[in-house]
Amino acid sequence: MSTATIDQPAAPEAIESFTVTLIIRRFDPEVDDEPRWQDFDVEMFPTDRILDALHKIKWEQDGSLSFRRSCAHGVCGSDAMRINGRNRLACKTLIKDLDVTKPVYVEAIKGLPLEKDLIVDMEPFFESFKEVQPFLMASSKPADGKERIQTVAQRARFDDTTKCILCAACTSSCPVFWTDGQYFGPAAIVNAHRFIFDSRDENAAVRLDILNDKEGVWRCRTTFNCTEACPRGIQVTQAIAEVKQAIMRGKP
Ligand code: SF4
Ligand code: FES
Repeated sequence: MSTATIDQPAAPEAIESFTVTLIIRRFDPEVDDEPRWQDFDVEMFPTDRILDALHKIKWEQDGSLSFRRSCAHGVCGSDAMRINGRNRLACKTLIKDLDVTKPVYVEAIKGLPLEKDLIVDMEPFFESFKEVQPFLMASSKPADGKERIQTVAQRARFDDTTKCILCAACTSSCPVFWTDGQYFGPAAIVNAHRFIFDSRDENAAVRLDILNDKEGVWRCRTTFNCTEACPRGIQVTQAIAEVKQAIMRGKP
């Protein structure tokens, strides 16, 4: 009787870990007069994200490191931060997409009051959001007591701006917002756009009037920082331009 040999599948190649240096801008209001930079070396895999690196530091090296995060999958919008000078979500930034031959700089987003380490006070951001009345307003009831009917084209008109997760990456990358904290900022305008162009809503004129304010859309200098920063790929600058046009010509 002959014995046949069965080829074993090749063992998967082991993924090598390596050391990444993170330089994090720290600030503890109880101790520090000014923020300071602190280095951390962390053992990471290419498939890890900056959020994993922050967790490793917090859990294994310095439990006082403070940052926000919740979903860890790009949905809640709570971990926007500046990574190598660019606004990103820590949970969506892969180590392999960064040049780790150099240190990775991590700091809080700009333009909002710094509270601790990577945490800023988001209240001014949400105040602007609330001011544009980001909810459906309709005086009439839907026909037959059923849902409000909308065509595919009507729904598509504002589809892009429904994707906002209120992470503030756009607003806190805007040079106008850095110098003028009163400016509504891109995120508030994006969320106004979402309802201004909704065929079921009847309050576009009120929102357009709010955004025609001196701290409204006319502050935008079309630098495109907001569009580049948006982790959801929303065409933020275009949405602002559409709101400007609607103010000048009326809601199309
Ligand atoms: S528009 Fe984009 S960057 Fe701005 S808050 Fe919404 S998801 Fe974040
Ligand atoms: S932790 Fe929720 S978006 Fe990053």
